[in-house]
Amino acid sequence: MTRGRFITFEGIDGAGKSTHLEWFAAQLAARGVEVLLSREPGGSELAETLRTLLLGAAMSSETELLLIFAARHDHLERTVLPAMARGAWVLCDRFTDSTYAYQGGGRGMALERIATLESWVHPGFAPDRTYLFHVDPALAATRRSRARAADRFEAEDFTFFSRVAEGYARRIAVDPGRFFVVDGTQSVSEVRAELEQDISTYW
Ligand code: TYD
Repeated sequence: MTRGRFITFEGIDGAGKSTHLEWFAAQLAARGVEVLLSREPGGSELAETLRTLLLGAAMSSETELLLIFAARHDHLERTVLPAMARGAWVLCDRFTDSTYAYQGGGRGMALERIATLESWVHPGFAPDRTYLFHVDPALAATRRSRARAADRFEAEDFTFFSRVAEGYARRIAVDPGRFFVVDGTQSVSEVRAELEQDISTYW
């Protein structure tokens, strides 16, 4: 079976990852790759419904964690795995690293709980490459304050996002080879040049 690839984009809110996703997809498409752009929470009809709840409805940290993995299961089953089976490359705005960073770091949920759900929902499956957009949590907060109305996560304070950033740092330590850390304070063209260089290593 031809297997596509799974590439994820991560970072604290305000780090600038979304600016680069569509451009990245176009770079791959120009090389003849079938590309599917997706996101988490979301990426399937049910998971998009769960996203609306996750970003807007009050709930405990436990419920939040379980809903995130429920959404992830549906997204993988209906969208990601079928696309990869036909050879497509799936680019995903956030995945399980976000759960370790936000629910583990930010909310303080036990990492073992997250690992248990991870090994249930996607045993042996991880991104082939993860672009982690890094900016100082203080700068990200300034950027967020200029953006549209905040959702449940964006409304969190500076200390929450500092813990999220630490959560990401722990993820890199676990699997350094998978991550490509992008300095999100660079200009758009500087970031693109770095990404382009990394894309060229795929062939
Ligand atoms: P994102 O799509 O980056 O937000 P936006 O569309 O506003 O740029 O992500 C939505 C939010 O979901 C983000 O604040 C982080 C949060 N999130 C988690 O807390 N855990 C997760 O596992 C995922 C995938 C997202």
